[in-house]
Amino acid sequence: MNTTSSAYVARYGRVAIALHWMIGLALLAQIAFGFLLDDIAPRGTPARATTINLHKSVGIVLGVLIVARLAWRLRHRPPAWPGSMPIWQQRAARVSHRALYVCMIAQPLSGYVASNFSKHGIKFFGSTWRAWGPDLPAVYTFFNGLHIAIAWAFCGLIILHVAAAIKHRWIDHDSEMTRMWPSASA
Ligand code: HEM
Ligand code: HEM
Repeated sequence: MNTTSSAYVARYGRVAIALHWMIGLALLAQIAFGFLLDDIAPRGTPARATTINLHKSVGIVLGVLIVARLAWRLRHRPPAWPGSMPIWQQRAARVSHRALYVCMIAQPLSGYVASNFSKHGIKFFGSTWRAWGPDLPAVYTFFNGLHIAIAWAFCGLIILHVAAAIKHRWIDHDSEMTRMWPSASA
């Protein structure tokens, strides 16, 4: 924590900040990749399988990083809320952060489970992972539908989250952004 700035602000630790930005930005790219799959490689074209498997491989790596982030978070308390922050805002932040963690876990998990009930399975950066489930189109469709629904809920939460950060930084001019910024000068 940085205690050298003139107005002291309780900040997240270095590891929490690094994980937040690394995973946050990679997730934004992965969500865009998911929504653009049909434009990059339309169904039925030769590039489709390679492109989907790249999305699956990156998604699995992200899933592992997310589990590491959650494990770190459960062992490290976040900094105390600023005394000036109204109780309702503290509650809203806590609920929305939890919802973001739920989406972070459920998004790759639903894609992974869906893929294991499909004959296509997963090619993880070129190496074939044998599906542990049978080829059941109805189960695949259910988990794939969940994957798509979660993606939309995730987008909504991220928009709210970023809007809140922007409001704190440029409208309220308070210390919220400084708590998660890589340097103490946000
Ligand atoms: C955090 C990681 C992930 C994110 C953010 C993500 C996001 C997305 C998004 C936004 C879509 C497009 C949804 C739509 O068609 O409207 C998508 C599609 C898809 N994702 Fe993921 N995904 C992730 C991980 C995975 C994993 C780990 C797998 C499988 C191992 C996977 C398999 C798929 C498949 C097969 C589709 C195509 C669905 C279809 O068009 O029918 N995803 N993903
Ligand atoms: C790209 C723009 C983003 C900005 C400006 C931003 C900003 C912030 C700030 C300022 C905080 C600290 C809030 C506080 O406790 O005072 C925070 C926390 C958090 N952010 Fe972001 N964020 C961004 C993207 C994301 C994305 C894409 C995710 C996706 C999951 C995310 C997930 C989280 C979570 C879960 C926390 C709570 C951390 C914890 O207490 O464990 N953020 N963010």
